[in-house]
Amino acid sequence: MSTDAERHPSSPVGGGRLLTLTVGPPAAGGTFVARHEGRVVFVRGTAPGETVTARLLDDPVEHANARFWRAEAIDVLEAGVDRVPTVWEESAVDGVGGAEWAHIALPAQRRIASEVLQELLRRAGVTSYPIEQVQVEPAPHDVDGLGSRTRVRFAVDEDGRVGMRGWRSHEVRDVGENPLAAPVIRELRVGEWTAPEGTEAIDVVAPSAGPASVVLVGRDLDPASVVIPDAWGDADVAVRTGRGLVPLRGDGMVRERVGERLFAVSATGFWQGHRRAAELLTEVVESTLRAPRGGSAWDLYGGVGLFAATAAEQVGPDGSVTSVEGNRRASQLAAENLEDLPQVATATADVTDWVRARRGGVDVVVLDPPRNGAGADLIALLAKAVRQRIVYVSCEPSTLARDLAAAERAGWKVVDLRAFDLFPHTHHLESVTVLERA
Ligand SMILES: C[S@@+](CC[C@H](N)C(=O)[O-])C[C@H]1O[C@@H](n2cnc3c(N)ncnc32)[C@H](O)[C@@H]1O
Repeated sequence: MSTDAERHPSSPVGGGRLLTLTVGPPAAGGTFVARHEGRVVFVRGTAPGETVTARLLDDPVEHANARFWRAEAIDVLEAGVDRVPTVWEESAVDGVGGAEWAHIALPAQRRIASEVLQELLRRAGVTSYPIEQVQVEPAPHDVDGLGSRTRVRFAVDEDGRVGMRGWRSHEVRDVGENPLAAPVIRELRVGEWTAPEGTEAIDVVAPSAGPASVVLVGRDLDPASVVIPDAWGDADVAVRTGRGLVPLRGDGMVRERVGERLFAVSATGFWQGHRRAAELLTEVVESTLRAPRGGSAWDLYGGVGLFAATAAEQVGPDGSVTSVEGNRRASQLAAENLEDLPQVATATADVTDWVRARRGGVDVVVLDPPRNGAGADLIALLAKAVRQRIVYVSCEPSTLARDLAAAERAGWKVVDLRAFDLFPHTHHLESVTVLERA
């Protein structure tokens, strides 16, 4: 393998230097492993088995002693069998971030994500479950992974140009058609708009019930300066400044339907991002939680009450469910969304602190932490407090693997682990793991 100063005489010195690399297996974070003169290089924008010209992101002089370098493929010399024409031109080299596998065939994306997940579980030392059986499944009815994102954040530059940030870059770039976004979001054509002065970002939501929502975000943005374009039709519009949310049309909320139940969510609050996610995860939690009738359950990192609703149906009116959520507004909304279920209580608290302060245990727990996972302290507390089952919903396999290994050490075993492709065309995945006492 040779450096390619000859092939690319204009290659800059330092970060930006070009290398010819032969690409091997996947690594975490959506990259793939290559080697240059014995050193590992994590390469983005490629696929297994390819030969590419890659631009180094690390200065090889400054990082001469580093164990690995990072690089981005800028030219494909020999394509791998998994490569397809990208589904989103604007996400290719020097384009927007957030679709780093758009050039890989969808079944191959899932195969690669499964390999990464299996490897993370193996390396963390998870032994109670047949890891080789874990395969990333598509969301129901998802044929091409397109049109499924119901939450899109646009970036805005100082001239009011609307786009998205580049990968590892602050530059705002054109989004084009953004085929990953739900059709309702694409139809608003937010990327063609010029935002008023002071706009830093635009959050657009395509909820499953009611109109779309557009929130202009800017610390010092003047709501009076916003002229709503005709293209936004009947979308709700709000402005979020340093002083809070100011609705211009609508009430600053969106509505999400799961089965018969409607959840009110703040227009900038958390809700599962794939259009089938809430329904799918609810079904999986419903079939795995097995909260006993008249028993007790905790919904940790509960958001606006999605899984608490399922737990409440299972324990029935004589049981008890507590939904614990750190965000005050989300916690209030959980109480309102579930006010017809008197067996549900809500607590606004840090989950670990709240569990630590409990006396007595609980029958079952569902937890759905953010990417940093539950962590050692919470796993140790749950390992003691939970009598029957823990259902762990995760959006980050590396912290999941770490937490599962900790749960095993604390006397629990994995009895089921399903992974879902709820972030198509990226390396991210969602999973639901069921734990029982070993
Ligand atoms: C991945 S979301 C899950 C929300 C909910 N289960 C759902 O599916 O809609 C994680 C939630 O945890 C909350 N959160 C993050 N860190 C927390 C902490 N340390 N204590 C309590 N809640 C936290 C966030 O505000 C967010 O609502």
